[in-house]
Amino acid sequence: MRKPIIGGNWKMNLGVPSEAVKMLNNLISLVRKIELVDVVIAPPFTVLESVIKVAKKSNIKIAAQNMYFKENGAFTGEISPNFLKKMGVEYVILGHSERRDIFYETDELINNKLIKALSMDIIPIVCIGEHLHQREEGKTKEIIAYQMENTFKNISKEDITKTIIAYEPIWAIGTGKTATPEQAEEIHSYIRSLLVSRFNEEVGNKVRIQYGGSVKPNNAEAIFSKDNIDGGLVGGASLEASSFYEIIRAAEKLK
Ligand code: 13P
Repeated sequence: MRKPIIGGNWKMNLGVPSEAVKMLNNLISLVRKIELVDVVIAPPFTVLESVIKVAKKSNIKIAAQNMYFKENGAFTGEISPNFLKKMGVEYVILGHSERRDIFYETDELINNKLIKALSMDIIPIVCIGEHLHQREEGKTKEIIAYQMENTFKNISKEDITKTIIAYEPIWAIGTGKTATPEQAEEIHSYIRSLLVSRFNEEVGNKVRIQYGGSVKPNNAEAIFSKDNIDGGLVGGASLEASSFYEIIRAAEKLK
């Protein structure tokens, strides 16, 4: 009953308009018939305008990789949600582990961004996940519960159902080490149980939870076949149209 969503997080790649548009045109021709899966790509800010123009005639939606929580002012280097909205951006990735670890983003900052995105009708994709040492210390659920509580502070029932959660175990990102489908499902079902206990069963069942971390064409189907996994947030394998398409097809085949 939840529609799977496959996101391509291009990170700091394909940031020149000509290369981004070339990749997008290849992807558009491949995904033309995809209906049962939402397809979103998150290119760098420098190509948003070109990509939005091309994606308009397709079933691909566009996400930003980040935003600030103020609409304008003296915030050198930041991007306003208002700019994004006016350009036609429909989704935004918030709290990616690279933002948290490299740029010191806190749960509090991510929470402010989340509240702002929701107030502007930009669909947030909020990332959570544990480090390897935390998993090895048996603290995964504790970390996830903490992030769920603090990143989603003061979010209403209505707003949480509009939000997409991406569980991205940090040790699996860009490492080629994927969580096994069972490891991922265990945490996805835990996240859902937290939503059920904080809100209610209906809300818990509505929220889409994506898995991210070395999703590839050869492991996508096994991961997406799990009950609580509603698609994926894909990094490396989203940079090439054919591999990203294979991952999208894996999700669609299961519907
Ligand atoms: P990889 O698919 O390259 O591991 O990246 C995952 C990710 O961080 C998506 O946001």
